[in-house]
Amino acid sequence: MSNTIIVGAQWGDEGKGKIVDYLTEGADVVVRAQGGNNAGHTVIQGGEKYVLHLIPSGILWPEKRCVIGNGVVIDPAALVAEFDTLAAQGVSITPDNLSISDRAHLTLPYHRMLDAHRESGRGGGKIGTTGRGIGPTYADKIERSGFRLADLDDPVGLAEKLAAKVEEANLILDAAGVEPLDLAEVGAEFNEATDRLAPYVRDTASYLHGQLKEGRSLLFEGAQGTYLDIDHGTYPFVTSSNTTAGGACTGSGVSPRHIDNVTAVAKAYTTRVGAGPFVTENAEFSDRMHGMGREFGATTGRKRRCGWFDAVLVGHACRLNGADGLAVTNVDGLDGIDTIRICTGYMLRGETLVAPPARCEDWEECDPIYEELPGWGDSPTAGAKDIGALPANARAYLDRLAELCETPITLVGVGPDRDETLVCG
Ligand code: IMP
Repeated sequence: MSNTIIVGAQWGDEGKGKIVDYLTEGADVVVRAQGGNNAGHTVIQGGEKYVLHLIPSGILWPEKRCVIGNGVVIDPAALVAEFDTLAAQGVSITPDNLSISDRAHLTLPYHRMLDAHRESGRGGGKIGTTGRGIGPTYADKIERSGFRLADLDDPVGLAEKLAAKVEEANLILDAAGVEPLDLAEVGAEFNEATDRLAPYVRDTASYLHGQLKEGRSLLFEGAQGTYLDIDHGTYPFVTSSNTTAGGACTGSGVSPRHIDNVTAVAKAYTTRVGAGPFVTENAEFSDRMHGMGREFGATTGRKRRCGWFDAVLVGHACRLNGADGLAVTNVDGLDGIDTIRICTGYMLRGETLVAPPARCEDWEECDPIYEELPGWGDSPTAGAKDIGALPANARAYLDRLAELCETPITLVGVGPDRDETLVCG
């Protein structure tokens, strides 16, 4: 039995869904512990494409159990819509295979509206949020005025609180000239969705403690990535949760003492959506990726910004997360490139940095220090069935990434399907 945390080592979209799906085979319970439906995990199984936002990808395995932990923020209407989409694809979701924490906070329509309103107020300094109400929901949680699923047990108190929150939000929206929310409509949408969720709600921390006691193994599916972490990311161009390994523990109620392995996931290059520093961003490289039909966001459909692999970022991410191993995905995205660059250091005002600076303004000013490696020409990695079948230059590239990040590479992705994941060593 071993318990593993999967985290993104970049800005999200590293292909964690696929790695989680791959590792799920050896796990009994798959747990989401932070973030909300800002996440979009694409999993391709047997040629069918599934896009998951709030539900752990373990749901695609009939015999596995899934948990949405206390650290997740849940938009009830979005979760119900996800139930319906997956059900239409033949996925069975019942209270036997999905549990939702009674401590999880709820995203309500006014959170979404406040998210949009605050973004528009930021003018040129927009974060580029997903517009899903994530920041305002976590703000209410930290400010101690949020709604939790446990509040459904007190319908009268809940209705009063909802009325007060809608009134408060309407004052802000009204002042901004935005159409106010209709309390009756908000209440109806909320009740309809939460009625459907109620059978799944439980004390998931105690449930997980019971699973551990019975010797079951847990797999924590991180959402977003290390540099979207509220503490360690490119603040303020971050999301509002702790996306690093510690967030898996606080967001589930499972002690760090139970964690046996942390696997960090990184693309063989770098991408990010939304605004913020990106030292290795490269327009030509971005065009190439988009031209190949790659790197469009799973949640918003936005074009992702693309650039070379940044070993300063990923090496620091491995240390922040205590990564035992690194899974490198999308290596096939580099097929056909003549010369590949890796960023090995940042140059900031004449000083070489080996870890990112705290201030975004400084981060924006950093110049990449590159080393170049030869590509693997006409011999693609796509279609390789084992690590030994990779072209020698691709293996040399991966060895160099491991060396720079001081972390062994344990898995390599060469395509979107489950069987396009190669095991190292
Ligand atoms: P929010 O999480 O919607 O508040 O957005 C904050 C920042 O995080 C924006 O730059 C988003 O594009 C980014 N973001 C949020 N979730 C994800 C994700 O799952 N993958 C990649 N970027 C994300």
